[in-house]
Amino acid sequence: MGNNILKGKKGIIFGALDEKSIAWKTALKAHEEGATFVLTNAPIAMRMGAINELAKKCNAQVIPADATSIEDLTNLFEQSMEILGGKLDFVLHSIGMSPNVRKGKEYGDLNYDWFMKTLDISGISFHKVMQTAEKTDAMNEWGSILALTYIAAQRVFPDYSDMAQAKSVLESIARSYGQRFGKLKNVRVNTISQSPTMTTAGSGVGGFDVFFDYANKMSPLGNASSEACAEYITMMFSDYTRMVTMQNLMHDGGFSSTGITEEIIGELTK
Ligand SMILES: NC(=O)c1ccc[n+]([C@@H]2O[C@H](COP(=O)([O-])OP(=O)(O)OC[C@H]3O[C@@H](n4cnc5c(N)ncnc54)[C@H](O)[C@@H]3O)[C@@H](O)[C@H]2O)c1
Repeated sequence: MGNNILKGKKGIIFGALDEKSIAWKTALKAHEEGATFVLTNAPIAMRMGAINELAKKCNAQVIPADATSIEDLTNLFEQSMEILGGKLDFVLHSIGMSPNVRKGKEYGDLNYDWFMKTLDISGISFHKVMQTAEKTDAMNEWGSILALTYIAAQRVFPDYSDMAQAKSVLESIARSYGQRFGKLKNVRVNTISQSPTMTTAGSGVGGFDVFFDYANKMSPLGNASSEACAEYITMMFSDYTRMVTMQNLMHDGGFSSTGITEEIIGELTK
């Protein structure tokens, strides 16, 4: 049972691929907290069909949209306002993909067409989402827009490859558009930097299992789960966080403030 902290709020949730997805967990949580929303994903991801199962559970409609296509995004925002009967209070950008990572390219042998795709899908699409929201006048005053990111934007994690650059772009866009949307409509824009999480996007990164374990041992609270992330996102969509904007919010069990832990010392002295 929820606490209705999103009662009456309307939104769009990008990126629910399957039940492991952070966006999937967020949809369930937001529904439990009283929100109504439209679910969206890239047309190619729809073919797997799982999103319809989620839509049923959340009483939501699904509109396909490639987040790099202005045409798809414009249709998405216009249709969503019609379906939901008004403007939006929240948007979740939970999108990431790198062809270079997916195809196992070394950082010293990147394919630059793919690099541009990584930047477009995983970074610039956040700007496209917000620019379209602005142009279609889709946001209500005091709305909340969020994207998910990873600490590789600030520190090097070799297997994360060109996704690190995409996340830096994403976080920078959150600050710049946060200033603009704040002035325009009191809309807040933030990124949440999440622990490694066992999802399709996460486990696509080389050596993920070992890395997941390492991060867990480097975090006093352990890795943050996707369920915990969904709860944090829900709070960021609620009226309890109206003055938080242009921030990169760490949701990582303490990983980002840790130098070393007894557990890691123990492992290395074995
Ligand atoms: N899993 C992790 O370890 C981790 C850690 C920190 C941040 N994140 C971020 O969380 C977000 C969600 O990822 P996830 O872990 O839930 O994995 P996921 O694979 O379930 O979600 C990624 C989503 O991006 C969508 N997508 C890809 N290309 C798209 C496009 N062109 N248009 C629209 N959607 C597109 C996919 O269809 C998928 O639904 C991503 O931004 C990811 O980088 C993940």
